[in-house]
Amino acid sequence: PYDATPYLPPRGGLAAHRRAAAGCRGCPLFENASQTVFGAGSPSARLMLVGEQPGDQEDRQGEPFVGPAGGLLRRALREAGLDEAQAYFTNAVKHFKFTIAPRGKRRIHKPPSLREVSACRPWLNAELRLIGPEVVVALGATAGKALLGPSFRVTKDRGTLIRLPGERVSGRDGAPAPTAGAEGFVVPTLHPAAVLRAEDREARYAGLVSDLRLAARALA
Ligand code: URA
Repeated sequence: PYDATPYLPPRGGLAAHRRAAAGCRGCPLFENASQTVFGAGSPSARLMLVGEQPGDQEDRQGEPFVGPAGGLLRRALREAGLDEAQAYFTNAVKHFKFTIAPRGKRRIHKPPSLREVSACRPWLNAELRLIGPEVVVALGATAGKALLGPSFRVTKDRGTLIRLPGERVSGRDGAPAPTAGAEGFVVPTLHPAAVLRAEDREARYAGLVSDLRLAARALA
């Protein structure tokens, strides 16, 4: 089965995990992506933002949220009164999944499968444990499912404050249960890339900002 667990370092902090993640072959997505895009930001962040997977720019640059969706997200954070320098940014899946457009070279984002999301979970768990954020913003359905389980629905749950279960059961493979974030909250919201693509972009953007304000209040 797809699983990142064998690639995790037995000990060490964020830097050790980032180095190890660069060599992850826990699922086939490493084959076509340029590099692993591990999380980045403040190691003492009280706020963590979790997206779906790196996009084209992130895959080239090796950093999360540096493309158009990242620009929109950073603007929304400022508008909600949140300081991006004190946040940690990451994704549910650490490799870019894409198809090549029929006649061009443009790489078109493809959503990761549930298997790929669960294969990558150990990296997200490690980030939660090592950072220990008080509030985790789940950006879109993939991040929501990764953090809260497959029954998560962004339309139903967005804009609410969800307490993370105190004890998450370990995986079938016996992977250690994450303890961090155990007392934290998840705030699900829209994915910034979905805001960019939407017809009613202004309204969606306002929705993203208002959900981020909820995260800001939870941190205050
Ligand atoms: N979209 C994501 O979900 N993550 C990124 O890092 C960039 C775009």
